[in-house]
Amino acid sequence: MTNKLKYFIGNWKMFGDYSSIKIIYRINSFCSKFKNRGKKYRIAFCVPNTLIYFFAKKLKTKFISIGAQNCHHHQNYGPFTGSVSAYMLKKIGAKYIILGHSENRMKGETNRLISKKIKSALNQKMNIVFCIGETFKEKRKKKTFSVLRKQIKESINKKYNLSKIIIAYEPVWSIGTGKIPKLNELKKIFQFIKQECKKIYKTKKAPVTLYGGSVDDKNIGSFSSISDIDGFLVGGASRSSKKFIDIIKNYYK
Ligand code: 13P
Repeated sequence: MTNKLKYFIGNWKMFGDYSSIKIIYRINSFCSKFKNRGKKYRIAFCVPNTLIYFFAKKLKTKFISIGAQNCHHHQNYGPFTGSVSAYMLKKIGAKYIILGHSENRMKGETNRLISKKIKSALNQKMNIVFCIGETFKEKRKKKTFSVLRKQIKESINKKYNLSKIIIAYEPVWSIGTGKIPKLNELKKIFQFIKQECKKIYKTKKAPVTLYGGSVDDKNIGSFSSISDIDGFLVGGASRSSKKFIDIIKNYYK
């Protein structure tokens, strides 16, 4: 099994209230049994904005971080009803932020807008989980690679600090459907993402790259053969402490 640092990041989407912290407490008590856990894997939960401050205050461990799921691109305060900036999220304890999620792209977020959001979150020194992925139609038309290249190129400016950007490959057709890509295809896609980033950003070190889309405790083991997958962005299964713990356990089996 791999010695490389892995990431297990939960995206709670629109779920949870204060009492849901018990889910994270259970996961923390499972993880705290392991020595050197900080060297093996990192955990973050990107929760609704209503929970960030409360969870970040309650969690006494540095091992599990709290994150947000989106922000407005404006840097600080501004006349944007219903919005919050990366600055405001960082101030209340968010260390991570998901940007470019397909559920927000579907509502009209463009690569250009996502790029501005990445910039404002980088200014706050947050860890960015930047989502990319093709739709089923694009996959059928064999456009996966060109879609991913465009999403990366148009959203990550060459001047951005790539070391603070985690890329999450989430095929849109896989989110919440129980369908996962074929492993040989996934392997090629991860190689492509890493090589493309090295090429575009003229760097030797490819960004941390996660897989997301219907990851659960049953299918997690199958991903461990792909060494380019540095971790997972987990939706539905991250809202159950048992499933999330089993994901970690089964990954390292
Ligand atoms: P599911 O794991 O529920 O398919 O969601 C994936 C996702 O959208 C994570 O960002």
